[in-house]
Amino acid sequence: MKSLAELDKLREEIQREMALREKKEGIKVVVSMGTCGIAAGARDVIAVLLEEISRRNLQDVVLTQTGCAGLCHCEPLVQVEGPGGEKVTYGHVDEQKAREIVAAHLVNGQVIKEWTVKEEGERV
Ligand code: FES
Repeated sequence: MKSLAELDKLREEIQREMALREKKEGIKVVVSMGTCGIAAGARDVIAVLLEEISRRNLQDVVLTQTGCAGLCHCEPLVQVEGPGGEKVTYGHVDEQKAREIVAAHLVNGQVIKEWTVKEEGERV
């Protein structure tokens, strides 16, 4: 069973997502939580992302999860979808990279190109 704090956090996330949908702007961050993602550390990554987004009070960022992305060898994967619908996928994300993605990409709009992967899973 979830704690009250966890439920509050969840409620805030849902409200934030609904506000974002209505505004149709902001940034969507999607973490692949398929079997391979979880095995590679996606749980720690999503926890760090949630912590950083909350700590920085990023109002227009929605954090969500998805299943298998078909790129086992690049897990953990984090996809950042910008307000214009442009998507950037980061591969081999660990806790440190997750923090830097929030600081560089979500806060400053700077893509960290050397950590991105193409749809086929190659490094860009
Ligand atoms: S379980 Fe790894 S790509 Fe689906």
